[in-house]
Amino acid sequence: MEDFKGLLKRLSEAFGPPGFEDEVREIVVEEMGPYVDELFVDRWGNVFGIKRGETEYRVMLAAHMDEIGLIVDHVDKNGFLRVKPMGGWNEVTLVGQRVVVMARDGKRLKGVIGSRPPHVTPPGKEREAPEMKDLFVDIGASSAEEVERLGVGVGSVVVLDREFAELADGVVTGKAFDDRAGLAAMLYALRLLGETSVTVYAVATVQEEIGLRGASVAAERVNPHAAIALDTTIAADVPGISEREYVTKLGAGPAIKVMDGGRGGLFVAHPRLRDFLTDVAKRKGIPYQFEVLYGGTTDAMAIAFRREGVPAATISIPTRYVHSPVEVLKLDDAINAARLLASALEEMRPQFIESLLERRLK
Ligand code: CO
Ligand code: ZN
Repeated sequence: MEDFKGLLKRLSEAFGPPGFEDEVREIVVEEMGPYVDELFVDRWGNVFGIKRGETEYRVMLAAHMDEIGLIVDHVDKNGFLRVKPMGGWNEVTLVGQRVVVMARDGKRLKGVIGSRPPHVTPPGKEREAPEMKDLFVDIGASSAEEVERLGVGVGSVVVLDREFAELADGVVTGKAFDDRAGLAAMLYALRLLGETSVTVYAVATVQEEIGLRGASVAAERVNPHAAIALDTTIAADVPGISEREYVTKLGAGPAIKVMDGGRGGLFVAHPRLRDFLTDVAKRKGIPYQFEVLYGGTTDAMAIAFRREGVPAATISIPTRYVHSPVEVLKLDDAINAARLLASALEEMRPQFIESLLERRLK
């Protein structure tokens, strides 16, 4: 467990907005190396770790390396950075945060997201939530020229500056648990994994938060027979929210996805693969919960509809306050996600994979 916590801390604190996952990729390459037979990085930066099994049946795993971030689209004459979102932020959670800005030479600069002091806020407006267009990043520069001298400008990327911390009872908090927790679970599962019939392609993907980009090309390359994504999901088990809207509960085990999606369309996890994961969890005594989520999806959706279709499912880690600086999860849920994944891979026989594939009826 200590191992897992340390791994999650390192991944969580790494810098990695969509398209700029280098720091996370370094950790992934280092962690995956000893546990796979082959390791390579594709043109967009997806990391593939292949662990050969007794058969050529390919099972693809996917966990994304990127975190939601901001991108500078304007620098004003007083040296403030104006930003656009990379991924789905709730602006309320950004105000008052410290951030890290990447300069052109790769150096990291500190900044803050400022706000209007109550003293100079018109009466009645104190509680108005800001919009993204009103937010700005203050890196301490006093002119556009100084910002330029620091190597920052249009296109510079920004993430939250937030240290990992442990709360009570094996519960931890930090930034980017979406999806460094899923990534940590995938890496941990590779450590736990024994002999398999199937050949495992563990893929750490890029640019998930801005449209499941990395998983799309990775799936084309692997052309898997089945796929399992690892991601966080909503645990809205907090005051003011009715039980029906919890989606999942912290501490009740990893979630086996039944359906998710949102405005872009819904995604139903492959029923036989979902049932298989459920049976494995039951047999191994791993706690689990089912998940129906409206308003978000995972790499599984992008993988599922490639080529002739890929039976795909998702194991999720219940996380409170997703896409905020204070994401919260229970380590046991994440470790159990890794156990469930490793057990499922070990138990996947060729007959089962064949049962997922197309059948000639006549
Ligand atoms: Co996300
Ligand atoms: Zn995610």
